[in-house]
Amino acid sequence: MNTPCLILAPMRGITTMHYRKAFVRHFEGLDVEMAPFISTVSAERINPKLLKDVLPENDSGLPLIPQVIGNKAHDFVQMNIALHDLGYNEVNWNMGCPHKPIRKKRRGSGLLPHPELVDSILDTVCGNSPCKISVKVRLGVADKSELMNLIPVLNKYPLSEVVIHPRTAEQMYNGAVDLDAFDKAFQQLERPVCYNGDINDLAFYQKVKTRFPTINRFMLGRGLLGNPFLCEIIKNGNSTVPNAITRISAFHEEVLASYEAVLHGDNPVLGKMKEFWTYQATHLSNGRKLFKKLKKSQHLSSYKNIVSEFLNESEWIA
Ligand SMILES: Cc1cc2nc3c(=O)[nH]c(=O)nc-3n(C[C@H](O)[C@H](O)[C@H](O)COP(=O)(O)O)c2cc1C
Repeated sequence: MNTPCLILAPMRGITTMHYRKAFVRHFEGLDVEMAPFISTVSAERINPKLLKDVLPENDSGLPLIPQVIGNKAHDFVQMNIALHDLGYNEVNWNMGCPHKPIRKKRRGSGLLPHPELVDSILDTVCGNSPCKISVKVRLGVADKSELMNLIPVLNKYPLSEVVIHPRTAEQMYNGAVDLDAFDKAFQQLERPVCYNGDINDLAFYQKVKTRFPTINRFMLGRGLLGNPFLCEIIKNGNSTVPNAITRISAFHEEVLASYEAVLHGDNPVLGKMKEFWTYQATHLSNGRKLFKKLKKSQHLSSYKNIVSEFLNESEWIA
């Protein structure tokens, strides 16, 4: 089997530049990162504050693909020019975000039922952007035929990649991924395809890889956040992780220090760290208890005590 290219999924609020930097210093096997979405804005000059998360001086050392969400072709082109000026050669277009307020405005997954609108946006964007365009899609809003109806449009443009998360927007992140629907879309797409969804362990990765042997790009989100060793595990074909708790502790310390350096006051840092543990606690033997206890913590000092106490007693569940 070819060595796969493993891509960190964009997860807004979580896979920030602080998280990404620390992640790459502590774990192996990840090849590429996709940054959480940046909204397009109707301005000729993009405020650099909007691009902070993807500024080259904040990079982790791995190739990073910025992601944009929006439905105004001109604004999208302006954003691509600003990103190209920062040195990026590829920008991903988010057509997968399932949240209702977003999709009601025909952004994110709300674009999936509108092939004519996607066509006109891609026509302008692909014709005027200095960067390559890739897209991240779902199967549809509620109806899985929506992606199939969109594929002839996607095939018209020189997209560098189509990342498919095989769920509908209505499903959000719940229920099973539909590998048969993924298969149908994959057969029809004439552009490189990346698989994304529920790669939570080696067995599921191997199941997808065995069914789609020609796919070599895989995007990992919640599974990798819960088990940051997962890329190493996939590449080594072995789930054993020596010194797991020590490595998780060191990673946690670095993420925490990074947020403490930029956020002011206990509350914003605690907010970030509670989000961190939503995923990170899943493979700790005492993770549920830890998460319950630290959700109640109101001060960083008690938070730190709780985490160090739990990590001292914890075992890693592969
Ligand atoms: C909290 C959260 C934030 C997310 N933010 C983004 C985002 O900014 N852009 C995007 O394309 N997908 C986003 N996603 C979706 C993930 O990138 C990914 O497609 C999804 O979690 C499915 O992959 P997984 O099963 O490996 O987690 C987000 C998901 C979650 C749970």
